[in-house]
Parts: sequence; C-alpha cells; structure tokens
Amino acid sequence: MCGIVGYIGARNSQEVLLDGLSKLEYRGYDSAGIAVTTEQGLQVRKSKGRLAVLASQLEESPLHGEAGIGHTRWATHGKPSDENSHPHTDATMKFSVVHNGIIENYLELKEGLIADGVQFLSETDTEVISHLIAREYDGDIVKAVQRAIRHMRGAFALGVLTEYEPDRLVAVRCASPLVIGVGEGENFIGSDIPAILQYTRRVYILNDNEMAVLTKDAVELMTIEGNTISREMIVVDWDALTAEKDGFDHFMLKEIYEQPKAYRDTMRGRMLDGLEGVKLPELKVLTPERLKEIRNVHIIACGTAYHAGLVGRTLIERAVKIPVENDVASEYRYRDPIITPETLVIVVSQSGETADTLAALREAKRCGAPVLAITNVVGSSVAREADDTIVTWAGPEIAVASTKAYTSQLIAFMLFSLYWAQVTGRADTAQLRHELAAMEALPEQVEKLLEQATEMKRVAEDMAKHDNLFFIGRGVDHAVVQEGSLKLKEISYIHSEAYAAGELKHGTLALIEDDVPVIALLTQPALIEKMVSNIKEVKARGGVVYAITDEAHAELVGKETDGVFVIPTTLPHLSPALSVVPLQLIAYYASLARGNDVDKPRNLAKSVTVE
Ligand code: F6R
Repeated sequence: MCGIVGYIGARNSQEVLLDGLSKLEYRGYDSAGIAVTTEQGLQVRKSKGRLAVLASQLEESPLHGEAGIGHTRWATHGKPSDENSHPHTDATMKFSVVHNGIIENYLELKEGLIADGVQFLSETDTEVISHLIAREYDGDIVKAVQRAIRHMRGAFALGVLTEYEPDRLVAVRCASPLVIGVGEGENFIGSDIPAILQYTRRVYILNDNEMAVLTKDAVELMTIEGNTISREMIVVDWDALTAEKDGFDHFMLKEIYEQPKAYRDTMRGRMLDGLEGVKLPELKVLTPERLKEIRNVHIIACGTAYHAGLVGRTLIERAVKIPVENDVASEYRYRDPIITPETLVIVVSQSGETADTLAALREAKRCGAPVLAITNVVGSSVAREADDTIVTWAGPEIAVASTKAYTSQLIAFMLFSLYWAQVTGRADTAQLRHELAAMEALPEQVEKLLEQATEMKRVAEDMAKHDNLFFIGRGVDHAVVQEGSLKLKEISYIHSEAYAAGELKHGTLALIEDDVPVIALLTQPALIEKMVSNIKEVKARGGVVYAITDEAHAELVGKETDGVFVIPTTLPHLSPALSVVPLQLIAYYASLARGNDVDKPRNLAKSVTVE
C-alpha cells in the first residue's frame, strides 16, 4: 500500500518526483524516497517520515539527473525506518527499485540470496527484487527484470532504474495499479493518474502482467514475457486542479463540498429524456434477460463502501423485491457463502484496488456468479475483473476519509435499482419519473444544507469534548449512522457506536448516563414515532440528544431533543444522500477541534491493497 512514481526526460527529475509523490501521499506516508541516475551514478535519498522530511533532505543535498523513481510508503514488511524506506538497491548500488504490493515468497527468495552471499540492509520484501535484478543482469535491464519477476509471487507494481542504462526506465504491473504518462520528450509512471496529471493527460493503463519500457522519446508496452502489445492511449479530461485543495483547508472539506457536482456527474447521461427511465449502456453482461434470471444479491465491500452497500440493499429490495445480503469483504470467503449463477454479486470499492474486495470478487466469479462493480476508478483492478462496472464520477478522492465517493456510490445504487426495476417490468414510467425527479433535486438540496455547515461546526466542537458518543437510527437511517460513526472514529479518534435505535435497550442503554451525547437520525416517516420513544429512553437516563431530521418532522423532533439540524425533505429511501452530509461535517469539525491531521488520520491509508 504505497505510491510509486517515475520520470525520464529533460526536467529536473527530483522536482517531478517530489511533486508526484505529494499527490500520492494518500496511499501511505510513513516514509518516502527517490533514486536518480546522476552524473556520479545512481544516487538515493530516503527517509522515515512524511514527504516534507525527504524534501528538506533534498534541499540540503539535491540530486540532478534526467531519470528517477520515487516512493511513498505505508509499511507492510518492516517497520517505518530509513533503512526500510524505498527505493531499495542491490549491494553494488547499480540497480534501484520502488515497489507497491507484497512479494509473498520473499522469505524463501531472501534465504536463497543470503545463501549466495547477498547481504540485506532492510527488513522489506522489496529488497529481494533489487538483488534478484542485479543477479539476472547481463547487459539488458528489461530482460533482467523479466527474469527476476519469474521468481516472484504476489502483487506488485515496480519502477526500476539502473546506472548501466540511464536512458531507460522499466515499469511492471502485476496486480498493483500502475499508469504510464506520455509527454513530449519525457515520460512518466505513477500509481495513479493524479500523480502525473500536472505534466500530461495522455496515459496508458497497464493491465496485470504487463510492463513498459520508457525512454525520453518512447514508451514500449509489452507482456512480462516480452511480447509487444499495442494499447489505446487514454486522454484524461480531469484538470490538475481537481486533484488539488482548491482553496479549502483540507481535502476532506473540499470533497464534502464537491458532492453536489459528484451527484450530477454520476447521474449525467444515465437518465432517459423526460425522466422516463434509466440507461446504463455499460452493462454488457447484465442484460435485461440476465437480470431477470437473478434470484438473490450479495453486496460486498469494506468500510465506507460497505456502508454504501447497506443502503444499496434497501434500494434494491425496495425496487426489485429480491433478497439482498451484505457482507464485509474480508469475511465473505470464509463463511462459505451460497453463490450460484443466479446470485448477482455487487462489489463496491472507491479505489477499485482493495485486496479484500478483490478476493471476494474472485471467489464470486469462481462460483459462476455475475459480478457488478461500483467503483470510482476507471481501469482499476475491480473494474477490470468484474463482468460489468458502473463508474461513479466522483473524481479523485484524496482525503483518507471517504465522503464524495460514498455518496456517489449511493447514487449509483439508486440508478441501478431503478434500472433493474424498469427492465424487469417492476416499475412503470410514472413511478420512474417521480423517483428520478427526486434524485435530480438532490444536488441542489445538498448545496442548501451545506450553507448551514457552521451549525455543524458548533455541534462538533461540543462533541469533541467527549470521549464516547452514540449514534442511533432505524431503517435506512441505521445504515447512515454507521457511516457517521465510522467517519467520526477515523478522523477525530472519539469512540462512538452506531445502534439500531430499538436495539439500545437490549444492553447498550446501560452506558447512557448524564451528559452522554447521542446523535439521532430521523428521516423515515414510518419510524418517527418509534424513534421518538427511543430518544425518550435515552433522555430519561440523562443522555443529551442531538437530532438530524427533515423539514417535515422538524417541529415534532425539536420538542423531544436538545438540538435539531434540519435537512431538506426527499423520498425516504433517497434520504441517505442528504442525511450523511451533516454527519460528515460533524466528523470533520470534531477532528479539527481536536487538532488532528484531518486528511491523514493515524494508522490509516487510503488504499488498502493487502488482505
Ligand atoms: C473510510 C474509508 C474506508 C474505505 C475502505 C474501502 O473513510 O474510506 O473505510 O471505504 O477501505 O476502500 P475502497 O472503497 O477503496 O475499496
């Protein structure tokens, strides 16, 4: 779970690499380093700590050269330390490697190399790669890399440089993401597109078991066996600014405010004229005929994406009347799920690279189920391995805490459930029009509620004084408070639990005493009365209840609680797209009030590519 970049061309490669790494810090930030082929040969600077530490090291002793590779690390094998930072080199310092992924058989390889007299300087799995390449080298770096990786098992994306061939940079992709950027007289590699977007919009996305050989003037694509491949170049239409903070203090806040745009972008082109239905031409395997055969659904994901799946379940069961189960991806394979060709498996993943989700996807495919992916990253592993993909157009999400990706996943579920109902004759045009009109209103409704963000700041500052708090909700509100609680935990480090409100009295109510804060979500008309009873149970024990409800219930709820935030009214099953926003803001401002690093919470990384 790391980020890699590479550059070859006439610019000062140190600057290009640092710049690319700054865009990749979300993938890991416990150490960073670069290697550059300079006039004095291959030189490395690396260190434990944030990129800023490396940048100041480079200020003191810069590296000048036209080819380089860089890395930002999130430790897997070996603790964060200067020695374990990448790039890693061989004993002669002639070969240098950056790596994202895991070499599963590295111990075995390491023992073999040690037996041959190789001395290791780090505890990483990556170091074996540089020694293997050095051992295989006989004058052609491409062949040496190809031979070296034949020994390796696992997931890896690599950038490789050698002092012997300073005019070539080699990149390999085996199950970890890698893109190649094509410039004029210069070329790039990166773990994702934002890492190189400032320099070029023209990219090739490598598939698994492919590699690229970059010189200043050319990019050659081939399989890891060496067979040439031709690939269409993609021209990216994001602008570099989309990946920057845009004047906001943090990426997370910027991304919260980008949600109206993300909703519009995810809906764009997917509604028929006159709102008569949904079109999803990207569904090639899930034809209407195939959808008619489906008898049950499994929705699989991790973390925030899992919470989006909980809402997805409500949406699909309501629209299509087919049973849906939700699974945490890391558990799915181990519960021996009953998967048949009539089971539709939906995997949800912002990054499209989450190892647990990918493993679950593969299990589903092995059992013959059709797999639909909902992801934010075109060309990601999940997108490529699923039978069909609905892309969420949230744009790059940089903050570790997911916001706009989650809400765009909700929009994708709304579209898909309506589409499924439409093509299987379960929804008529009038109903579709009614629902799609409500969906179309969501972006503006979010804009409206974001105007009251300062109210959430006040509530959050109050919550930040406590060490424990509870969220309660019923029905789809329960799914949403689970996301609110995760968001709060991950960036404010305040302990919180999200409960189905009716479940509180079966044990957890014992934790409610004077001044314990409880955030209650009430958007479901059919459940308001029951929620009010649960709120009374809390208040009777001294709990302080802050409610989030819609315009239709504001008055009633206001009487029963200690404070209320009012969101616009929408159809009950669409409410998560609105009600989660104040919860995201509470988490954001609570983290800020506690002086935390909002965008980079401790112990977490954006993309979790290990199981
Ligand atoms: C929390 C968060 C994580 C991710 C989870 C899955 O804010 O972002 O819980 O949702 O790690 O990641 P993806 O969606 O990339 O598969």
